[in-house]
Parts: sequence; structure tokens; C-alpha cells
Amino acid sequence: MANLPDHVGIDFGTHSVKAVELSKISTDRPSLVNLGSQITPKGVINSEEKKDQKKLADVLKKLYDSSRIRNKNAVMALPEFSVFTRFLEFPGVKREELKDAVYFEAKQYIPMPLNEVQLSYVPIGFNAEKNAPRVLVVAAPRKVIDIYINIAMDVGLDLMAIETESVAVGRTMYKSTGKKNLVMLDFGANSTDMSILSEGYLVFSQSIAIGSDALTQAIMNKFGFQYQRAEEFKRNYGVAEGVLEGKIYGVLAPILESVMVEVRRGVEFYKNRTLSIAPSDYLLSGDGALLPGLTEYVSKSLGVQASVANPWRNISVDDKFKDIVEKSGPSYSIAIGLALKDE
Ligand SMILES: Nc1ncnc2c1ncn2[C@@H]1O[C@H](COP(=O)(O)OP(=O)(O)OP(=O)(O)O)[C@@H](O)[C@H]1O
Ligand SMILES: [Mg+2]
Repeated sequence: MANLPDHVGIDFGTHSVKAVELSKISTDRPSLVNLGSQITPKGVINSEEKKDQKKLADVLKKLYDSSRIRNKNAVMALPEFSVFTRFLEFPGVKREELKDAVYFEAKQYIPMPLNEVQLSYVPIGFNAEKNAPRVLVVAAPRKVIDIYINIAMDVGLDLMAIETESVAVGRTMYKSTGKKNLVMLDFGANSTDMSILSEGYLVFSQSIAIGSDALTQAIMNKFGFQYQRAEEFKRNYGVAEGVLEGKIYGVLAPILESVMVEVRRGVEFYKNRTLSIAPSDYLLSGDGALLPGLTEYVSKSLGVQASVANPWRNISVDDKFKDIVEKSGPSYSIAIGLALKDE
């Protein structure tokens, strides 16, 4: 049985705000009730200014109105770049001692005073060799959490839970593929967020501060194009090889390569920490994953099997939504994961 009632999952991105409402979330085949997105005004995401929060609340109201969403129960995600996560093991620590141990250890790892963050942890199994419980520690700045509480209040929503984007995306990918070992790369406007699912548990996440907008910017700089034109070139040619004599490829590839460097580092860190082999399946999400040639690029650069996620698999979609759902590809992955949260 689900502990949470059916609700709307809301993903605040720097480029757009996306919402998905599902029903029958604790069944094998939830149904899409409603969905929508709206462009995010510049500079308002994570802003502590009341007027920016008001703007974001207005965007959300508009989204609810235009998509005719009526369900006031909501689950939201904190942008990955604003949270801190760390995989830790506690050799010899008993279950009942775990909470104290986590708080004690966290002090060394969290780059903020503990009284300014909300600390939580998810148990993720046990390392039998070391007799060590394993946990993923998540620290979210209270200031950031307050922003989303304020927005929910302004819109008149009942905010039932807040979690991180990576936890949400992990839920979506597991549900849509049945795969328990995955590397997930979410290509957003401002950042590329990487997370690793191991045996069905989220064990690693990091936000890489290079997003798809950096690609547009590079085309603008190189060719002196206006934003709109550069964006078109990016979406049409991407990193497909052998088009326009490789001119666009030549501009974009070095930027993507710097993302790949961080991904490789993340994977190495994960391997050293967990002493396990890294998953070879890579799923790409976010609108930036629609870049032509990206899956081939990632596969080749990392020597892995990459594909664009289909977060809608295993969700029943009425004919009236078929078009949007098909066009949106992987872009609602986080909102779907939030909508699927059932406990
Ligand atoms: N068809 C496409 N091909 C390539 N890139 C695209 C395409 N459509 C959108 N994008 C890019 O995807 C980015 C927006 O992605 P997304 O909506 O996932 O970001 P966001 O969630 O709002 O941002 P973030 O997660 O960084 O806060 C923009 O940089 C946009 O240019
Ligand atoms: Mg995003």
C-alpha cells in the first residue's frame, strides 16, 4: 500500500518547471493523469529573494491553470547542485547506533555547519566483509528547503515531501527499465547531474556545473550568432559526426568532453568507495539528452552502452497525451520519479 496519496511531482529546472500527476502509483502500471511545463524566468531558481520566489510560484500557478491540474498534493525536488550526498560505510556499527554514527561522521564531510542543513540518510544494504551498514547521507541547506516550502504555500499546495533530483530519477529509471545497476546522466540547462544506481539503491550523485546552455553559448561565441540561431544549430546538428564539415562538432565536443572527464572521475570515486564494478548501462535524461549524436558520443568516449531514457515505459498514457509524451522524450524523468514516490 502506498503511504503517500496520488500527487503531482514538480521539477524546478533553470530552463523549465515540469509537473506530472499520476494515479495508481503503487501498482505495476500507474496512469498519467496530467502533465505540463512552463519556462522558468531567469535567475529565480534557488533565489532567497522573496520576489523571485513569488515569480516561481506564479509560474507554477500558470502551469496548474494551463494544464488543468487540480490535485493539491505535491512532491518537489531540490536541485541537485544545492544538495550534498555522500556514500558512507560504518564497520562494526550496530543498527541502533547508526543514527549517532551518521551525525558524527557527517561533520567531517559536509561542507556546511550542521545546524544549517537538514541531514538525512538512506540505509543501502550491508557490506558483509567489513560487517558494515552502508548509507547514503544527504544534506540539504535549510535555506533552500525553505524556498520550496514558501512556494508551495503561495500556490496553496500541500507539500508532502521534498527529495533530491537524483533519488527521483533513480526511481523512474528503475521502474521503467527494471535495471538495478545504472549510471544516470541528466543533461539540464545549467548542470549535468550524474548518479549511480547499484542493486536498486542510489549510491552516488554529483552535479557537474556544465549544462546544455554552455553548448549554445559556445556556438554563439564561435560564430557570432544570436541565441536563437545558436540554439537551432545545437538542436539540429549537435555532436552528430560528419555534418557541416564537423564545424559544430568541433565546438561542442570539447565541452562535452569536460563533462565526460567529471563522469569518469565520479565512476572512479564510486569504484574506490564501494569496491564494486561500475555499471555499464548509461541512461541519459533531461532535455539536453535530445542533442543529436549524444548517445553515440557518450558511448564512445566512456566505452559504455548509453541510451536515451524512456521514463514513460510502464506508465499508462491516454491517447490525448500521446503526442506530448512522445515529443518530450526523457524530459519529464524527474517529475515522473517525484510523482511515483509512494512512501
Ligand atoms: N532538442 C534538443 N536538443 C538539444 N538540446 C535541447 C533540446 N531541447 C532542449 N534542449 C536543451 O536542454 C536544456 C534544458 O534542459 P532541461 O529542461 O532538462 O533543463 P532544466 O531541468 O530546466 O535545467 P537544470 O536541470 O540544469 O536546472 C537547454 O539547454 C536546452 O537548450
Ligand atoms: Mg533539470
